[in-house]
Amino acid sequence: MLASFPLRAMTPPIPAVALSDGTEVPALGLGTWHMGESARRRPREVAALVAGIALGMRLVDTAEMYGDGGAEETVGDAIAGRRDEVFVVSKVYPHNAGATSAIAACERSLRRLRTDRLDLYLLHWRGSIPLAETVGAFERLRHQGKILRWGVSNFDVDDLVELLALPEGRHCAANQVLWHLGERGAEWALAPLCRSHRIPLMAYCPLGEGALLQDGRLLAIARGIDAAPAQLALAWLIGRGAIAIPKSGNVEHLRENRSAASLQLSPSTLATIDAAFPPPAGATSLSVI
Ligand SMILES: NC(=O)c1ccc[n+]([C@@H]2O[C@H](COP(=O)([O-])OP(=O)(O)OC[C@H]3O[C@@H](n4cnc5c(N)ncnc54)[C@H](OP(=O)(O)O)[C@@H]3O)[C@@H](O)[C@H]2O)c1
Repeated sequence: MLASFPLRAMTPPIPAVALSDGTEVPALGLGTWHMGESARRRPREVAALVAGIALGMRLVDTAEMYGDGGAEETVGDAIAGRRDEVFVVSKVYPHNAGATSAIAACERSLRRLRTDRLDLYLLHWRGSIPLAETVGAFERLRHQGKILRWGVSNFDVDDLVELLALPEGRHCAANQVLWHLGERGAEWALAPLCRSHRIPLMAYCPLGEGALLQDGRLLAIARGIDAAPAQLALAWLIGRGAIAIPKSGNVEHLRENRSAASLQLSPSTLATIDAAFPPPAGATSLSVI
């Protein structure tokens, strides 16, 4: 029996993805990069996050890096009074991922988010601190209840193999990577490896930071099936088992993104997509932003 993160009843429901510990999270969440950078924009950003959560996109992805802590504070405003409804993900800088520095960084994130625990804490990217030391710190945070689980980000095959060889490496709950129609490198070796360890991929920049939505190939395919380009790009990722975390500060865009859950792509549309945005034909390393 899988432990379930409660998914709000809404038609059609957002599909659930199981993390490696069996916890289910919605396949569509909310990104926060570039939020929390301006006091003037903050009320609108908080309102957008609240709207996205109400639409069922109840996984919020943030990081100590975003807005220098400002994004975590913005998320703190958005989840105030509804903490138990939201699956909160944050990330530690590689240079803060040491035995004591990770504990301090996590405690700062908790204060900015005004919560007592993170649902998922990720190493933002691989740095120079030994992985075993970071995993040790994550495990300590987990035993203290400050994080419920941990994972990694921007880990390609070699890094993941090294992680999984550590005694507690199997506790890695997810790997957050660059993945969208225009960046399919993760599909060659990383996605199969993650699948074999039940580690789901979280797809960051699922809309190519917005640029993908201007791509003529995507526009033509979307027009052909009467879908919005963002809806199509996200439905494609959901169909591949990803947890997609688009960022939007615009409620109309959020509705469009949410509608990806109602779009089933037929085999012929998937073939058209593969012809327009070919999957890797050989060993391809993971791109990073
Ligand atoms: N782990 C990592 O290293 C890493 C790296 C990058 C990003 N991330 C995470 O992934 C999240 C998503 O990536 P991202 O924010 O870089 O890029 P993204 O989600 O691919 O694209 C965001 C851009 O798309 C626009 N947009 C969103 N929905 C739209 C729609 N329906 N129609 C038209 N435009 C739309 C947004 O503008 P509006 O606000 O106007 O809608 C924004 O400009 C980040 O916010 C962050 O949480 C993680």
